[in-house]
Amino acid sequence: SPWGLGDLGFLPYVLGWDFQTPKGLSEGASYRQFVTRHFDSPKTNAANDRLYCNLLMQRRGLTRVFCKRRNTFIHAPSGQLQAICARGGTHVRLNLYDSLKSFNVTTCRALPRSRPGHCRYRAAIGNTKIRVACFQGLPVHLEPTYLP
Ligand SMILES: *[C@@H]1O[C@H](CO)[C@@H](O)[C@H](O)[C@H]1NC(C)=O
Repeated sequence: SPWGLGDLGFLPYVLGWDFQTPKGLSEGASYRQFVTRHFDSPKTNAANDRLYCNLLMQRRGLTRVFCKRRNTFIHAPSGQLQAICARGGTHVRLNLYDSLKSFNVTTCRALPRSRPGHCRYRAAIGNTKIRVACFQGLPVHLEPTYLP
């Protein structure tokens, strides 16, 4: 963004808000949402990474109302992702942590003429550390900071 703030989606988490789930369920639901959106290990088989993105974005419900423009899947055991909020990570600021390890990731970006029912993606793979927002010891949001 022009302000250098990256994805402002982290703000609700920084402030301890969650607009998408009822109070009381929010922490668990946010971690579940993180898993749904960002966890795929071992990486689901597909003929190529583009088809992988088309498949996974649909399977994870990220193409229902609109084609989610951008989403990253992390190919690492969930325990390693949870650990980022503890000994597997370094504190950056607020509730943001950088992983000590690098992970294989796939970033999917919607092609210009994608429409629900016909969401098509391009893929970028990488091996990188990641930055997450943690809430009650669990990752609830993935920051775009290091992502391909
Ligand atoms: C990461 O990806 C590389 C190349 O795609 C692969 O050789 C390697 O086994 C992967 N590492 C893990 C831990 O999955």
